[in-house]
Amino acid sequence: MKATVIAPANIAFIKYWGKADSVLRLPLNSSLSMNLSNAYTTTTVEFSSVLKKDSVRLIGGMFFPDEINRIIVALDRIRSYSGIRLFARVVTKNSFPKGIGAAASASGFAALTIAGFAASGKKLTEKELTIFARMGSGSACRSIPDGFVVWEKGNSSDTSYAYSLYSHTYWDLYDILVIVDTGMKKVSTSEGQKGVKTSPFWQERVQKIPDKIKKMKTALREKNYPMLGAMIEDDCLSMHRVMQTQTPPIFYWNNATKKLMEMVRCWRNEGIPVYFTIDAGPNVHLICEKSTVELLKKKLREIEEVKNIIVNTSAPGAHLVDKHLF
Ligand code: PMV
Repeated sequence: MKATVIAPANIAFIKYWGKADSVLRLPLNSSLSMNLSNAYTTTTVEFSSVLKKDSVRLIGGMFFPDEINRIIVALDRIRSYSGIRLFARVVTKNSFPKGIGAAASASGFAALTIAGFAASGKKLTEKELTIFARMGSGSACRSIPDGFVVWEKGNSSDTSYAYSLYSHTYWDLYDILVIVDTGMKKVSTSEGQKGVKTSPFWQERVQKIPDKIKKMKTALREKNYPMLGAMIEDDCLSMHRVMQTQTPPIFYWNNATKKLMEMVRCWRNEGIPVYFTIDAGPNVHLICEKSTVELLKKKLREIEEVKNIIVNTSAPGAHLVDKHLF
């Protein structure tokens, strides 16, 4: 059987950085995210007796050799759990550039997991699917449930899963992904996270996360945008402080990133409500409400360093679709 899935990328408001178990991809801390409506991966999987090995293709892009291996390992997990013995054909396509710190591995492994199990005929619960997606790429588990999602760190594979806190229709929040650099990131998140415990700040960060998540849940419940925005920025800076003080340090920002961070502060001082967050790359996510999207788009168009913008609102989680890629 052939199955196709569309899975959104997600932006973490409280971020995941560091693993407690690198094989199972158990995180050092819980995290909280929003799915993105216009940054997504479409993946078709078919198991077939004709194939002599797995065939994996990315439309309009290239995989690194280790990425192909990770995909094949994920297919092996699907095969072993569902009892299927056939090789698979996988074709995948991103709606946005890959490797720029825009969570292509999150949407990619979420789509692969659901399409793979659907193609195998094995039915899993959403919770089980998030656990399998997590083993492909940690943040992928957050791209499966609807809208605003929590990933509980847990202390075993079965207890480290993601669930929807609120549906995507709950709050009209926007994420304007501002692309200032389309080059591949220099250090992958898997590589970068290996050094987390060499930072003198990792422990302090991890200890504060449960309280931060509690407060962020309050901000979401009350739809308190200034409180939410301030916490999003604070956690972004806290994660980058750990990254930048690891050995060797990792600096994902460039001059354009810093300029945008400054601009966001200037705009706030002018009375425009907007906050930033940044993942493992130089591109900047602006978190705002619907009423400010047009004004921000206009302002962004005037900044020379801005190459492209992708306007996202909160999106449903990964889901099966009828239109296959092959
Ligand atoms: O899922 P990974 O291994 O690509 O790690 C993602 C880490 C960050 O994007 C930097 C933060 C997050 O929580 O999404």
